[in-house]
Amino acid sequence: MENIETAATAAYVVAALLFILALAGLSKHETSRSGNTFGMAGMLVALVATIALALARHIEPIGVGLLVGAMAIGAAIGLWRARVVEMTGMPELIALLHSFVGLAAVLVGWNGYLHVEHDLAGGEAGLLNSQGMLGIHSAEVFIGVFIGAVTFTGSIVANLKLSARIKSAPLMLPGKNFLNVGALVLFVALTVWFVIEPQLWLLIAVTVLALLLGWHLVASIGGGDMPVVVSMLNSYSGWAAAASGFLLSNDLLIVTGALVGSSGAYLSYIMCKAMNRSFISVIAGGFGMESSSSGADVDYGEHREITAEGAAELLSSASSVIITPGYGMAVAQAQYGVAELTRKLRERGVAVRFGIHPVAGRLPGHMNVLLAEAKVPYDIVLEMDEVNDDFDSTSVVLVIGANDTVNPAASEDPSSPIAGMPVLTVWNAEHVIVFKRSMASGYAGVQNPLFFRENTQMLFGDARDRVDDINAAL
Ligand code: TAP
Repeated sequence: MENIETAATAAYVVAALLFILALAGLSKHETSRSGNTFGMAGMLVALVATIALALARHIEPIGVGLLVGAMAIGAAIGLWRARVVEMTGMPELIALLHSFVGLAAVLVGWNGYLHVEHDLAGGEAGLLNSQGMLGIHSAEVFIGVFIGAVTFTGSIVANLKLSARIKSAPLMLPGKNFLNVGALVLFVALTVWFVIEPQLWLLIAVTVLALLLGWHLVASIGGGDMPVVVSMLNSYSGWAAAASGFLLSNDLLIVTGALVGSSGAYLSYIMCKAMNRSFISVIAGGFGMESSSSGADVDYGEHREITAEGAAELLSSASSVIITPGYGMAVAQAQYGVAELTRKLRERGVAVRFGIHPVAGRLPGHMNVLLAEAKVPYDIVLEMDEVNDDFDSTSVVLVIGANDTVNPAASEDPSSPIAGMPVLTVWNAEHVIVFKRSMASGYAGVQNPLFFRENTQMLFGDARDRVDDINAAL
């Protein structure tokens, strides 16, 4: 038994190091594959060590049976979902997975309460009390349940918003900031009470409070800020796992939870900076954000259209082209056609580059992954800041299924829900061709004046079909 404990501790250190290497690898295109491999290896080491420990500690056959049964069911569902999920469905799947971490933290917290505080006269509570540790255990239970429940409902709302099953516009309850701040103050007061006198009704109260708060926090965020919310929920799920680690006395869970929590928080901070948003305002459920106008009732005039043959002609005579892909390229799976178009144009001596907005698509790095999959060379795939000054010297911009990320209202209309968000300034190019199926708005639900500009022409239809038509015409 002692040998297994020592081996498991050593394995946990190895797993934690592998997770750190995974995070480092995932920070660059070139090393992301090895980052993933490190992460998977770390998880394998962690699982084997944890199962070995559990088997050594809980020898009752029923416990082993439950453990193996639960793992088999979880693994089967996980494998099935990962096999069938579309790339465009990844964000909502990730949000759903975050909700499971939250739910697990709530269950671990409740289990901790039922085992210890519930029976104050019992052995374990008495022992902890005599060591002056009962208060710390109670705080761990309460905080773990709170973070877990906020993560659970927040992630469910994120899942529903990302899969468009509920509208992405922010919920604007009267006094919403007061409600959020009030819930936090109430949580602090209940925590103090529970630490002094652990009682079941207090735990029920904080669970309900946190479930409602998680729901409200994410429902109050507008579509344009959802990327930050998803990475924030990722961070919360890490803290929820760390809280469970304290309760289960599992060092690896504490370290891994803290890694996920802090890297998710840092990613959210970087995203907020890139999108010119206040970090505090977004995590506090849109604190201080004014109600805004979607521009749906503004008359921008007539739009112009172009055919695939016309687009091919324009591209043939262009000297430089920038392609700005968005979520529609992912939906249409147009990346292979786009890669072929890029190759054809470059063979003709046209300088082709890609401009990637930090929140294009529905996942951080979504467009980079698709373009890498289609073997577009990394060196012509540039970040927004690297191309934004070059549009005015560009002959043609192809906006392939992007909308919010190329919307001039972000910089020109202070009442727009996406006001202040930096966007790709494609309208400065000589010609802009927009690939989409209709005049519908993008994810944030905001009308796009780009479509009505003098130098913009719409190429309607599925982006993949239209790109293939252009390739055929070239
Ligand atoms: P969006 O604003 O979502 O617009 C995508 C456009 O693609 C739509 O207007 C749609 O128009 C078009 N489209 C859909 N299917 C198509 C198809 N088969 N062929 C051609 N066009 C198609 O895209 P974006 O510019 O990439 O902006 C991303 C948005 O998602 C931002 O608001 C961002 O905040 C949000 N978001 C991002 C993330 C991350 S981390 N990236 C996470 C959550 C939310 P039609 O319907 O007319 O075709």
